[in-house]
Amino acid sequence: KRPVGAPDKSLARKVTKVGIVGAGLMASQLALLFARRLQVPVVLTDIDQERVDKGVGWVHEQLDMLLLKGRLNQDQVNRLKANVTGSLDKASAFADADFVIEAVFEEMGVKQQVFADLEAVVPEHAILATNTSSLSVSEMASGLEHPERVVGFHFFNPVAVLPLLEIVRAERTDDASLATAFAVAKELRKSAVLVKDAPAFVVNRILTRFMGEVLASIDEGTPVEVADNALAPLGLPMSPMVLLELVGPAVAHHVAGTLHEAFPERFGVSENLGRVVAAGKRTLYDHSGGKPELDPEVAALF
Ligand code: 3HC
Repeated sequence: KRPVGAPDKSLARKVTKVGIVGAGLMASQLALLFARRLQVPVVLTDIDQERVDKGVGWVHEQLDMLLLKGRLNQDQVNRLKANVTGSLDKASAFADADFVIEAVFEEMGVKQQVFADLEAVVPEHAILATNTSSLSVSEMASGLEHPERVVGFHFFNPVAVLPLLEIVRAERTDDASLATAFAVAKELRKSAVLVKDAPAFVVNRILTRFMGEVLASIDEGTPVEVADNALAPLGLPMSPMVLLELVGPAVAHHVAGTLHEAFPERFGVSENLGRVVAAGKRTLYDHSGGKPELDPEVAALF
C-alpha cells in the first residue's frame, strides 16, 4: 500500500551509491543501515580523518558483532566492510553518488553550507537528504540551484531498531525526489510517514513535550529520580531521562529551543537541561550494572 502522500513509485530513481556527510553517532548508524539494506557502496565524510576513521571503524565493529551474533556470515561481512569507506574528498567520493544524506551539527548555516558544497559535486539527479531533527528543510534548500532534489529523512535512535522514518517534503521538493525517498525507505525496511515541513515535524514535538514536562517538574523542584520513575508504571521501553541520554542532551536542548522559538506558549526550555548541556555532559547514567544509575556529577547539576 502506498504511504499517504507518497508519489507514484514509478517516478523513483535507482540508487547505486550513497554518500553520508558526518561520521558521528547518527551518521555511522545510517552508514551501517544503508550498506546492509541497499547493498551499495556507502562513503562517509567528515571534517577530519580522525572522525572519518572513527565512523568507519564503528561500522566495521558493528559488522563484526553481527557476525558473532550469527546475523551475517563472513562473506556478507567482508562485502559490507568493503562497501563502507571513508573519504575527506567529497568531490571524488560523491561524484557518482545518487543519494547523499547529511547528519552534521544541528545549525541551519552549517547545513546550508553542506548542501551548497554538495550541489557543486554530486550528479544532477542526486537526492540531497537531511536527517535534521527540527530545522526547516525548505530553508535548508533555499539557496540551492536545484532545491527540488532536497528531502527530509529523519531517523530515530537506535536507527537499526526503530522502524519509523519521517520523510519531509520541502516547499520545492519534486515528485521524483520524493518517490525516490520513499523507495529508499522501503529498501531500508522503514515505515515511512510523510510529514509537513514544520518545526520538529511530528514525532519530536510529541517527545519534546513529553520529556519537557518531566524536565519542567524537575525544574520546579521534584527530585530527578522521582520525576523519572513516576512514569514507570506506564510500561515505557525506557525512562524519560534515559531516553534523554539516548537522544543526546544537546540535541534535546536544541530541539526544545527550536520549538520554543516557534511556539513560545507551548514549549519551554529546561534550565536544568541547559546546565547539563553547558557542562558538556553527553552521558547521564552509568549503565555498567543492571539498572542505569544517574551519574553523581550529573545529579549535582540538578
Ligand atoms: N543499536 C542497535 N541495536 C540496539 C541498540 C542500539 N543502540 N539498543 C538495543 N538494540 C537492539 C538489541 O540488540 C536488541 O536486538 P535483538 O533482540 O535483535 O538482539 C533489541 O534492540 C532490544 O534491545 P534490548 O533487549 O537490549 O533492550 P530493550 O528491549 O529495552 O530495547 C530500545 C532497547 C530499542 C532502545 C528500547 O528501549 C526503545 O525503544 N527505547 C525508546 C527509544 C526511542 O524512543 N527513541 C527515539 C528517540 S528520538 C530520536 O531519535 C529523534 C531525534 O531527532 C532526537
